Amino acid sequence: MTADAARLYRHALEVLRENDQGTYTVPTKGLYPFQWNWDSCLTALGQVHYDEARAWTEIETLFAHQWPDGMLPHIVFHVHSDGYFPGPSVWDTGRPIATSGITQPPVAGFAVRRLFERSADREAAVRRARALLARIDAWHRWFYQMRDPHNEGLVAILHPWESGRDNSIDWDEAFERVPTEGIAPYSRRDTQHADPAHRPTKAQYDRYLWLVQHFRSLGWDNRRLHDASPFQVVDPGFNAILIRSATDLAALAEELGEAEIARANRARAAAGIAALETLWSDRHGQYLCRDRTTGELIDSASIGGILPVFAAIPQERCREVARTIERWAHKVAFVVPSHDPLDPRFEAKRYWRAPVWLVMNYMIADGLRAAAETAVADAIVQSSLDLITRSGFAEYYDPLTGEPCGGGRFTWTAAMVIEFLEAA
Ligand code: DGY
Repeated sequence: MTADAARLYRHALEVLRENDQGTYTVPTKGLYPFQWNWDSCLTALGQVHYDEARAWTEIETLFAHQWPDGMLPHIVFHVHSDGYFPGPSVWDTGRPIATSGITQPPVAGFAVRRLFERSADREAAVRRARALLARIDAWHRWFYQMRDPHNEGLVAILHPWESGRDNSIDWDEAFERVPTEGIAPYSRRDTQHADPAHRPTKAQYDRYLWLVQHFRSLGWDNRRLHDASPFQVVDPGFNAILIRSATDLAALAEELGEAEIARANRARAAAGIAALETLWSDRHGQYLCRDRTTGELIDSASIGGILPVFAAIPQERCREVARTIERWAHKVAFVVPSHDPLDPRFEAKRYWRAPVWLVMNYMIADGLRAAAETAVADAIVQSSLDLITRSGFAEYYDPLTGEPCGGGRFTWTAAMVIEFLEAA
């Protein structure tokens, strides 16, 4: 490792350690003071390089708060903090330890298989992976039961926060149908910690909250939420993560002798890969979201439609997506922007409407490498490390200037840096 790389590595460790709360890690102090679902799973991939036991604990803590129906909530409110909105009283999910009532991209199956492969203590890895297998499988089953009621092979998100890409341009049109009447007065906290110009708008927050209130009025009963939601979107990126996790869980289950879990997850992944094809757009050279309430594809070329390379999509699709990334790369200084830079709706600094996120880069590069698109994968990793060197461990980055945006000293950004440096 060069001296520069060693310095970055040390800095990444510092960020991870300062956000570590003992049994879980906060995404960053101030802006996000609790445990977030997919942040934690990806954080564990950084932790495993310096403390294997701690990495397993990160994911176990999250699963200790799984709902009885199988859902893994997107936030666990372990402690009291006034610094975040909406807090536990707004969600009011009635869980013994407060959680939110929606979920997040199901990256756990992928993360646990990777932890298992990286763990030197084999006895502990087998024991801890075995204990998580059934829980992750229950979460996957929950998705297909609750979010794919017509057996399409693809699941819907019911709230933009579930996608993790909160204010993506993908949701704009569908969000117009979400009303705002009757929302309780509220005061945002995120804009006290981060530049409001980097965050979602008030109009978007009103709708986020309307959906929360609506689901709360239905008692968070997942058997009712799908059909009752005016927002139902099939996101190719979200589904690709689920498919990849199902594939990885199947492989892990096979290795641990859990044949039924392996079979069920292999079947889910195969159905998902076949169904993803219905989201393909020749015009954009990538996948698009489908609005399930209208049945129409959404004309918005975002990173959600690039992310399917993370799953085992056909080789020619992967090739076409790699060419799309190369086209985008000519328009920006840093890849991968979270939206097509030629789209007039592209907003370079605003959260998921253009900025670069290292977790996305990590998953996309991983998929491209597996498909032998090595040059594009290498360029994405290099761009990621250039961003860190230039702008530190930010939440996300302006793809035109590399400027750091959102929160600072971000845990999963640091975890991804460790992964990139370890693989170099
Ligand atoms: C937020 O509050 O910005 C989160 O993304 C919602 O989970």
